[in-house]
Amino acid sequence: MKIIIDSRSQVERGDPDVVMEGCRVYRNPTEVKMSQIVLPCHANHRKELSVGQLLKWMDCTACLSAERHAACSCVTASMDDIHFEHTIGVGQVVNIIANVNRAFNSSMEVGIEVSCEDLYSDQHWKVCHAFATFVARSTGGNKISLKPLVPRTDKEQLEHSMAAERRRMRLLHVDIMKDLLSNKTFQWSPSEGECEGQNEASVPTEKTRVESVELVLPPHANHQVNTFGGQIMAWMENVATIAASRLCNAHPTLRTIDMFHFRGPSQVGDRLILKAIVNNTFKNSMEVGVCAEAYQGEESRRHINSAFMMFEVLDEDGRPRPLPKILPEPLDGGRRYQEAIARKKIRLDRKYIISCKQTEVPLSVPWDQSNQVYLSYNNVFALKMLAGRKKWTLSSEKNRVRLFTLEENRTLSFRIECEVNVPAARAFLLLSDLCRRPEWDKLYEKCELIVQVNEDDMIYHVLTPSVSEGGKVQDFILLASRRPPCNSGDPFVIALRSVTLPTHPPTEDFNRVEMLCAGFIIYEVSESVSKLSYYNQTNPGVLPYISTDIAGLSSSFFYNFRSCNQYLLENSARPPALSNTEI
Ligand code: COA
Ligand code: ADP
Repeated sequence: MKIIIDSRSQVERGDPDVVMEGCRVYRNPTEVKMSQIVLPCHANHRKELSVGQLLKWMDCTACLSAERHAACSCVTASMDDIHFEHTIGVGQVVNIIANVNRAFNSSMEVGIEVSCEDLYSDQHWKVCHAFATFVARSTGGNKISLKPLVPRTDKEQLEHSMAAERRRMRLLHVDIMKDLLSNKTFQWSPSEGECEGQNEASVPTEKTRVESVELVLPPHANHQVNTFGGQIMAWMENVATIAASRLCNAHPTLRTIDMFHFRGPSQVGDRLILKAIVNNTFKNSMEVGVCAEAYQGEESRRHINSAFMMFEVLDEDGRPRPLPKILPEPLDGGRRYQEAIARKKIRLDRKYIISCKQTEVPLSVPWDQSNQVYLSYNNVFALKMLAGRKKWTLSSEKNRVRLFTLEENRTLSFRIECEVNVPAARAFLLLSDLCRRPEWDKLYEKCELIVQVNEDDMIYHVLTPSVSEGGKVQDFILLASRRPPCNSGDPFVIALRSVTLPTHPPTEDFNRVEMLCAGFIIYEVSESVSKLSYYNQTNPGVLPYISTDIAGLSSSFFYNFRSCNQYLLENSARPPALSNTEI
């Protein structure tokens, strides 16, 4: 999406992404733009921009944006997964826009949008969207404490809020991968012998092995002699492309890169050893793994980065071509073969759950260990998106409890809001224990904790009274994801959504129903008062039923909120219900 910020008409139309600052249109102070014409020297022999060159431009634009906020030099800590939607040809223009979404302690999340422009047809395409993390470094090497970034527009507010969620996922990434790869389903056992589907025509992976050295020179580094992250990514992409080409004897197209994590710095004078090999091939794609190590003189090698890239080979009509099976080397090769299968599943889950628009994700996504982090992200993301909508209308108000409604895309959503004389942290603890909800919510007949996923995520089985007379009791399987604030000013969040669980399939006894998105957002008003908002988004199936009875529904909401308030007040002095929460 392109935002033209220098048009006053957008302000007049009330565009929430454009705000005025005095008599000038506000422009994000950390915004940095780069435009480059793709020349033959930036392209491969197919006259397409090399992804390595694009990564260098993206890293540079993002670094300049981070440095604008930090006012000191910054290094790339990580670049999240990138999915490339289009290739870019010689003669076309690449436009890159980077903004700092949020500053944490010494690190910042920078959002990077890449689009391509054809000057002759005046067409624009989205190429990719990425998030990079930069860490501010002082000249003396001391840890820097960054000033907070204050979001101004609605879009900035949403990105600011979601940056905290993405950071959580990023910092867990290494542990999640380790956990998953040690999981029995994905475990490689050398005694299993051959890998599935191999035959004599399989290509030995040894054929694809690449090892290449680079000497880090001053043009590859910043003024503090640290190697640019973009340069390292470009060198890694180069060896990965060679490995992929060796497998298919054709030109491969890079589709997806898994997160790059810069484990340690590299400087001018370092020798960088880049190693790549095809880990596995699937029907139409292959995974290439790359490892980068640095050393100087006699010192031992430092592991600075590892990445996994998915390539396709396109036929003349631009359709992915089937790829040959591979024959992995014994030991490490076999393990990587198996781990590539696990990563493929994780990538698919992630794409399905995270990248899809909320309305495209089915109501109940099956929960399993490999997708738990993405489902938890999706749960909180959906609630924050709903809370961030601007078109809420006040439907009724009673005893300072307000009911708002929002009708959008065939869904009807409710927000019920009031202030309670209970500290926000206390309300959060009490409300995030769903097993106690039957104490105040007459729509929760019974609630049982069935999986304690981790400290922040729990799965419950909820029974609610039947909606029709004589009908069956309804049941839900709900994932509750709770988040204490990341910084002061952030709310406490308890997000709820339906999931399916193989151990708890629907039964004859109950009518299994699904919840699209619901939950609490709790803001601290003062030390002893908090503002409580409960959100509930109904799915299209129940919309006709509900919209005919808004009045009945609002009286039940008001009743429930009153008893919720009562429950919080009565329990506010007792010890916490959930002892392991850190806030
Ligand atoms: N992704 C995103 N952020 C990360 C991260 C990752 N994988 N690992 C650490 N961080 C963040 C931390 O959250 C922390 O942020 P905060 O201060 O806002 O809370 C910040 O980095 C510093 O973390 P800390 O634990 O103090 O330091 P560390 O020892 O983990 O070092 C780096 C982190 C990034 C500074 C260090 O790994 C490094 O120097 N890497 C090389 C960076 C570089 O030179 N890049 C260019 C190419 S080589
Ligand atoms: P792992 O071996 O557990 O996958 P590494 O970080 O050691 O993790 O390596 C990342 C990837 O780099 C590997 O999956 C492999 O594809 C590639 N790689 C590692 N070592 C070599 C090597 N010696 N030769 C070729 N490629 C390698």
